[in-house]
Amino acid sequence: MCGIVGYNGKNSVTDQLLDSLELLEYRGYDSAGLATLNGETGKVKLRKCAGRVTDLRKICHNDKKISTCGIGHTRWATHGGVSDLNAHPHRCGDVLLVHNGIVENYEELKDHFLLHKELKSQTDTEVVAAVLNRFYNGDPHEAIKRTVKYLKGTFALVVMFVDQPDVIYAIRNVSPIVAAYNDNGTMLASDVVALGATAKEYIVIPEYVITELHREEIKMFDLAGRQIHPEFIKIDWDTTQGGKGKYPFYMEKEIMEQPDALKATMEQRITDGKIDLSSDGIPDEVLCGCERICVVACGTAMHAGLVAKALVQSKLNMHMTVEYASEFMYEDPVIDEKTLVLAISQSGETIDTLEALKYARSKGAKSIAVINVKGSSIARESDYVMYTVAGPEIAVASTKAYTTQLIALFLLVGRMAKARGIFDDAAEKEYLENLIQAPGKMQEVLTRKHDIHKIAREMLDAKDAFMIGRGLDYSILLEGALKLKEISYIHTEAYASGELKHGTIALITENTPVVATVTQEKLKDKELSNIREVQSRGASVVLLVREDFDLADAEYADVFTLPAMSDEFMVFPASAALQLLAYYVSMDKGLDVDKPRNLAKVVTVE
Ligand code: AGP
Repeated sequence: MCGIVGYNGKNSVTDQLLDSLELLEYRGYDSAGLATLNGETGKVKLRKCAGRVTDLRKICHNDKKISTCGIGHTRWATHGGVSDLNAHPHRCGDVLLVHNGIVENYEELKDHFLLHKELKSQTDTEVVAAVLNRFYNGDPHEAIKRTVKYLKGTFALVVMFVDQPDVIYAIRNVSPIVAAYNDNGTMLASDVVALGATAKEYIVIPEYVITELHREEIKMFDLAGRQIHPEFIKIDWDTTQGGKGKYPFYMEKEIMEQPDALKATMEQRITDGKIDLSSDGIPDEVLCGCERICVVACGTAMHAGLVAKALVQSKLNMHMTVEYASEFMYEDPVIDEKTLVLAISQSGETIDTLEALKYARSKGAKSIAVINVKGSSIARESDYVMYTVAGPEIAVASTKAYTTQLIALFLLVGRMAKARGIFDDAAEKEYLENLIQAPGKMQEVLTRKHDIHKIAREMLDAKDAFMIGRGLDYSILLEGALKLKEISYIHTEAYASGELKHGTIALITENTPVVATVTQEKLKDKELSNIREVQSRGASVVLLVREDFDLADAEYADVFTLPAMSDEFMVFPASAALQLLAYYVSMDKGLDVDKPRNLAKVVTVE
């Protein structure tokens, strides 16, 4: 997934592009580039490099600010390594192109158009630029139309033609592009956050619509050449990132914001002590009419789904599946009109989840999306949407999005239980009394962050680590393990502790780091005996245990007590502790906590 921008206006184009690229860098940050066109002289300026936008800014430092329009790109490598050559924009003849997506048939296109000799990079994007140039004879629409007919896969293409210095062109298939205008000109980008704080409304460029960015207007045409009028979406939320404030990394800021984010996500959904989803517009018929529930999600969002599964099975006595979205379509899932699909996604742009959702809907399923970004692709594709109110999440490692997803899912399940007559008023009241404690219980953990920092210091040299627990603890630790590995690069495996003895315990040796959570009343005795099994083989165990549980008399490397809640709500304090653990290990290792290697915040390639 990459970030693309285009700007046509009276501001300094280079500065405008660089500022927008910095806002998009969470989408990919292994290389960056921009190209500008000067309307008067037709002069092209192309600057690109492996590295961050700050590196690109340095090489643009002496450029005169006289261009009229330009395009920019931050890259997450899909085809070809990280190099200046493979960075975007790519120029072929009269064509300058930036691209987000994957053109699956780019090798065939190389052969079909005999492009091998003219290509310099290893990217699919340069192939597209070469085909555009091959078809370009002064008519941008003709060149674009003929080119996209050959493309298989996903693409957001933003193009400039050097002899058309006053217009930027764009066309997309699946990969997102939004556009807006303000007093200073027109802009497009992969994500609303890059449109700048001045944009008050934006357009989602429809698929296979040729969009022209002029200095003062945006024009759109279908492939038959008919002009179509854009539908504007109001931006009624804060798209700015608000900076890191007093924190060294966005991740710490976002971890600390969780209590407020949980409250904000609950706020409009609890009325007079009852769960009220009317603001989400989800009818009880949908909640009562389904016979099966299926989650499609990726990464952390999928882990939120696992917690929802435990709830659905225990509260609704309903079977529920939680599927990796990237696997879902290829396993012949049993989906029909009696299935309710939950698409969970912070960004709302994860293409695996989007495609899985589309597939499920094509089979007749009703869908509810749990999303953090308004107007995102998955939100637009779903029948109903529950927006989390976490605010922009910038750190690649998801934290507040995860726990606000949990809040939304707890409320959804609670409403289902009430609508189905499983919860009476008393049961709903008790359920909510627990849920509304979640922000405070998380805060209790966050207040003791220095205790976790001390534990983290003992793990800095670990190469491998295990996280073990049963039931909901295991689901919680799958997320904890993802956090630790994705930002500290310690190979961390979450394991159902009862399963260890069936093979994996062979890997436990002297001082193997093991993080164990014991938060479930009904499982604690078995979990403690599993912990003793690894300790007897030399493991160094860090125990995260509910404060009201009697500890076994075993020796632990460290013990961190978690504020007590009923079993199913323990995910909130436990997650806060595991997030902080990962954060401090990564920070003390001197790593870039917010932008870990190889990753990006939004995965818009399959
Ligand atoms: C989580 O820390 C990771 N950044 C990643 O697993 C993420 O949760 C996943 O890519 C899904 O993203 P989404 O919620 O935006 O769909």
